[in-house]
Amino acid sequence: MMPVKFGIGMLGYGFMGKAHTNAFKKIPYIFYPFPVEPELVAICGRDKANVRETAARYRYQKWTTDWREMIADDRIQIFDNTGSNDIHCEPCIAALKAGKHVIVEKPMALNLAEAWRMYRAAREAEEKGTKHLVAFNYRFVPALRLARRIIAEGCLGRIYHFRSAYLLDRLSDPTAPFFWRLNKERAGSGVLGDLNSHAIDILRFLLQTEINAVMAWNHTFISQRPGPNGDNCPVDVEDASMLWLKLTNGAMATLEASKVATGYKTVWRIEIHGSEGGLAFELSRGNELQFYTKSDPLHLQGMRTIHVTEPEAHDYARYWWPRGHGLGWEHYHIHMLEHFLRCIATGADVAPWGATFADGFRCQEVIEAALVSGEKGGWVDINHTQLE
Ligand SMILES: NC(=O)c1ccc[n+]([C@@H]2O[C@H](COP(=O)([O-])OP(=O)(O)OC[C@H]3O[C@@H](n4cnc5c(N)ncnc54)[C@H](O)[C@@H]3O)[C@@H](O)[C@H]2O)c1
Repeated sequence: MMPVKFGIGMLGYGFMGKAHTNAFKKIPYIFYPFPVEPELVAICGRDKANVRETAARYRYQKWTTDWREMIADDRIQIFDNTGSNDIHCEPCIAALKAGKHVIVEKPMALNLAEAWRMYRAAREAEEKGTKHLVAFNYRFVPALRLARRIIAEGCLGRIYHFRSAYLLDRLSDPTAPFFWRLNKERAGSGVLGDLNSHAIDILRFLLQTEINAVMAWNHTFISQRPGPNGDNCPVDVEDASMLWLKLTNGAMATLEASKVATGYKTVWRIEIHGSEGGLAFELSRGNELQFYTKSDPLHLQGMRTIHVTEPEAHDYARYWWPRGHGLGWEHYHIHMLEHFLRCIATGADVAPWGATFADGFRCQEVIEAALVSGEKGGWVDINHTQLE
């Protein structure tokens, strides 16, 4: 069977533009035989010289500084938006209207109003078979897929606690330069949208429950930073955020995110406790899942470490290396985009494994409520807007 060619139009050539391009290149030979051959048609960025150089380096056929050119290009069937948050909404809606399958990085939008418009456009496009994905790549960590399975099989019993601490020290140096993520107009929020969006999505994915109410404390420790012209730029988004959540299943959740967690490069701890057992995961030890069950004999009880690299037992392990040889951060993007391409080729649903624009919207509802709570204080109920 000859793979079907799908042209890729990539908005953004930065961190995520590179991660997604890397995935498209590797998918056909790692998942061989694979029904899709992604063709790198065009890449777009703001800086002419940089985007031209990157197009040559990544091997895109052409480059542009105007994303509209990619929407008009019939050779592009998949529009991948890895731009900064302020450039998610309009290009995604235009691409959906033009009949292209759309991937957008998280957080889906700058705010809930934008997320709603994007969701509506995706819902309409779905009628014509168009697929959409929000790049919540941690749904594709084999250890977290195992966690979801363990929870769904009831091994933890009734869930009491979900705890996430996503901690980086990237902004703990006050001389770290100002950039788009520190500007509300371009980012929508700070660590809330950047880090806690992942935590909100993985909570919904793992527990298969919704969030009823949120209480937030968002704080900016370093309120100005050196700008590109030697001036000082005001930081108007939070560099630390603490959320308390009431979950529909009756459980309590706390989500902490910080970029001033001195000494931590990237630490993401997820801990879940239920009536019958517990789970723990840490991103820098991504090949391991900690699992405790009360059903072990008393003298053997304790957290056990499961190395998720058994080809016969763990998701994705059979495609990669012999058992015991772990995967890393790049692989979660590869798995996510492999899933999306396969869904396009076979007509399968992106959900529940991938996050759709409906999931992106649900996440944005919580972010929006957390911003309100952070400003006004107290609990804020989540609307749970009807999504048909
Ligand atoms: N899933 C993850 O793990 C993860 C990790 C980091 C970032 N992200 C998300 O990915 C997105 C991009 O983040 P990044 O770190 O790659 O940013 P980046 O600054 O490295 O890249 C942003 C890109 O957007 C392009 N861009 C901005 N405005 C544009 C415009 N008007 N026209 C054309 N191009 C434009 C820039 O040229 C640049 O190439 C954000 O939404 C971010 O939250 C996700």
